[in-house]
Amino acid sequence: MLKPKPTQGDTEWFVNDRFGLFVHWGLYAPPARHEWVQSREEISPEDYRKYFDRFDPTLYDPKAWARTAREAGMKYVVITSKHHEGFCLWDSKHTDYKVTSTPYGKDLLHPFVDAFRAEGLKVGFYYSLIDWHHPEFPIDIYHPLRNHPDAAALNRQRDVKKYAEYLHAQVRELLTEFELDILWCDFSYPGRDYKGMPGKGRDDWQSEALYRMVRELKPNIIINNRLDLPTEYADVHTPEQVQPTGWVHIDGAPVVWEACQTFSGSWGYHRDETTWKSPGQLIRMLVNTVACGGNLLMNVGPTARGTWDRRALDALAVYRDWMALHADAIYGCTQSEYQAPPDCRLTQNGKRLFVHVYAWPFRFLHLEGLADKVEYAQLLNDGSEVKFTSEAVHYAAEAGTLTLELPVNKPDVVVPVVELRLK
Ligand code: GLC
Repeated sequence: MLKPKPTQGDTEWFVNDRFGLFVHWGLYAPPARHEWVQSREEISPEDYRKYFDRFDPTLYDPKAWARTAREAGMKYVVITSKHHEGFCLWDSKHTDYKVTSTPYGKDLLHPFVDAFRAEGLKVGFYYSLIDWHHPEFPIDIYHPLRNHPDAAALNRQRDVKKYAEYLHAQVRELLTEFELDILWCDFSYPGRDYKGMPGKGRDDWQSEALYRMVRELKPNIIINNRLDLPTEYADVHTPEQVQPTGWVHIDGAPVVWEACQTFSGSWGYHRDETTWKSPGQLIRMLVNTVACGGNLLMNVGPTARGTWDRRALDALAVYRDWMALHADAIYGCTQSEYQAPPDCRLTQNGKRLFVHVYAWPFRFLHLEGLADKVEYAQLLNDGSEVKFTSEAVHYAAEAGTLTLELPVNKPDVVVPVVELRLK
């Protein structure tokens, strides 16, 4: 079985647990039309202030969130401590642009971390390198003021070195104030210049010094790959909104990787966005990812009231119901050395080989290379035995192929799984 390149951070638990929850929450929840709303609609910091002045998620209940996430089968969580808008969900000493200065008036993150750890989940923080609110953050291609007539003049008063000091001070503060397993930085865009305003990368963030500081404070923390540092600095590589079809390789070597995805078309709460994925898509995204040796980080965008809306809860229930019966085919599993039959995926954990059947076949399923290698087979959803043979099957299979005899009717689960116990 393929093994990923060793990492500086502790990814042992990570590659076993496989399935995590992403939470995107901030002042973009009240406008409720994507977490990039301030950039897309070029809303000035002054005009965006109305969301700050009204932010009061009185229904926030992190214990309910944590319970729902655990029931959905998620083993770790990553929440946006600060997104590109610059608003901080904790009582940072380095800014007043924080939740404790809003009508809500309380830190959101300590209750969050406590609740999720109490449910047994590992915890990580997403931290945006980008900051559209900070007065020293130079205006650039993504900034809400990028088309302001005075953008160039404004930038002459901005010093990215001072912004980097703020960035480092906040990361130090987060790593000191909170017990974290993951630091999920986002994102670098060197070379993406706009009207003479440069993009931003390692020199702007002082990424090398930031990385050294993080390692000093938390030697085993998992750090992702968006600091614009050489690939060997990254513990985890992070494709998003795409479905890799093989084990992610960097510089020719298999790496620890995590695909982050959304239930709908938005990370932040988006009232009117309707591309919510079907139950089949949700389960297949998880299976496809683990079958290629990766992790899935699935995102919820809480509302301005502090709730998870019905659509998110229904999507999480799809995972809850499927994982309740099929968790063994995900946790501790990775890419199999065997060839999956058409319309199937394989995940494997030692001598336990799991066949995830996307299109239920009529009576027989044939697996190459597994003849005489299986001692028992069962449907994972109800533990019912599945008979099999390595003999030829009239008009269907040659001798030397493993043929499973399946019930005509598909089991009543989103994706049925046959477990093969290898000899
Ligand atoms: C992209 C989006 C950002 C989101 C991130 C999650 O960078 O711009 O809004 O937080 O993906 O990976």
